[in-house]
Amino acid sequence: MAIMQGMENVVAVDAAVKYAAQNGHRFVEELKELLRIPSISTAPAHRGDVRRAAEFVAEGLRSAGLEEVKLIETSTKARSGHPLVYAEWMGAGAEKPTVLLYGHYDVQPAEPLDEWKSPPFEPEERNGNLYARGAVDDKGQMWMHVKALESLMQGGRAEGAALGLPVNVRVLVEGEEEVGGEGIAAFVRAHGEQLRADCALVSDTEMFAPELPTLCVGLRGMIYTEIEVRGARTDLHSGMYGGAAPNPFVALAQMIAQLKRTDGRIAIPKFYDEIEEPTKTELEAWRSLPFEEEKFREEEVGSPELTGERMFSVLERLWSRPTMDVHGMPGGFTGAGAKTVIPAKAVAKISFRLVPGMKPETTFARYKDFVEEICPAGVSVEVRLIHSGEPIVVSTDNRFVRAATEAMAEVFGKETVFVRGGGSIPVVGDFVRELGMPTVLMGFGLPDDNLHAPNEKFNLSNFHRGIESVVRFLGKVGEPQGVTPS
Ligand code: BES
Ligand code: MN
Ligand code: MN
Repeated sequence: MAIMQGMENVVAVDAAVKYAAQNGHRFVEELKELLRIPSISTAPAHRGDVRRAAEFVAEGLRSAGLEEVKLIETSTKARSGHPLVYAEWMGAGAEKPTVLLYGHYDVQPAEPLDEWKSPPFEPEERNGNLYARGAVDDKGQMWMHVKALESLMQGGRAEGAALGLPVNVRVLVEGEEEVGGEGIAAFVRAHGEQLRADCALVSDTEMFAPELPTLCVGLRGMIYTEIEVRGARTDLHSGMYGGAAPNPFVALAQMIAQLKRTDGRIAIPKFYDEIEEPTKTELEAWRSLPFEEEKFREEEVGSPELTGERMFSVLERLWSRPTMDVHGMPGGFTGAGAKTVIPAKAVAKISFRLVPGMKPETTFARYKDFVEEICPAGVSVEVRLIHSGEPIVVSTDNRFVRAATEAMAEVFGKETVFVRGGGSIPVVGDFVRELGMPTVLMGFGLPDDNLHAPNEKFNLSNFHRGIESVVRFLGKVGEPQGVTPS
């Protein structure tokens, strides 16, 4: 009986792979339709578009054959949020595992627009890549999940088998990942039992290099903040008052300059106190990855030199060391030409990436105390937390990670490597900590995909191989344990 079930799995997976190959062109055309919707979660003007994207995803799940498809409204104390999309198919039976598939349908703003070779919301294929905002982060990768499910549901049926999946699945797609994911975090904390699953599958990360199947086993956390400095009651003529009136931008610059030393070390007291170092084994594995610092500098970063803590390797600086970055300083005069003004206020948007051991609340408190302490005379300062997420490392010693490793090795014909990601996906911390779920971060982006930047793309071969990897992963997770079909 168990062996028969195993055989059925293999048949279903083969049928799904065939279905995906036959329908691959349509899958891409559908993805283009989704990419035409500018679902920029941070922009109030795009609220309607964000909802349209949610409805598009819901419709995709419905036609794939999933059940209980619905939008779940979210809200936080600050504002009403963007909806979650939920779907499930629990027909595999209680003896089969349940997999929670996660992705996000919101995207980053597309500015600066004049640097795009084709408009960000008019997807265009060039050289085997699909260019559009959200192509890889994360609409394209989320759509891989939807199409993998469709292929398993519908492919088997085309071969005359019963409609169904090798495992039970729940699908949760959010529309606020790029703005901190507070809505989904609240939902997971309040209704975790509705998401009960044996593991989570997330495709929102990158491969370490083209053709190199990669599992990501850690993500940095973050706190995103604003510092607001106020000086004079109102904007002032800098000739009439300059020399005697405080300038909030100068005060802000002086404070920012004290946050980080020139050798890259962050100067906030106790900032590094609780950091957990990667293990020797992990560091050794990183050293054997195909990484060329000079190539990375020249081709990915494009700056005359790399910066940061020189006693740590570049991969350590990206994956296991915390950061401080300034994203923008709104205020004052930024138009063309010149205006001699002393602005009454100045703002800086500043974030910190956190690594295992660090807590968002503790880090924020230490940073806020420090900024208040170093605030120069003549101005007042307010430090605000915009959003935060915890750092995570996932365990690799479980059958779900093994299933993912094997699935990708079959598709790419190479051993899978384990890396960490420098970015953040806030909800993953909740999957791991709140729900205690082993989480598999199986991503198909490439290092030059321009996430969050002009000319974002998704390599179409990776889109198709991603679908096949997800199909094979679900097939393997559904195999009866302890029995390997011949
Ligand atoms: N998909 C990225 C995160 C990512 C990218 C992880 C590359 C690993 C490798 C995600 O959409 C993202 O951009 N997250 C934001 C989160 C933030 C706004 C809370 C980030 O990292 O800046
Ligand atoms: Mn993403
Ligand atoms: Mn992103």
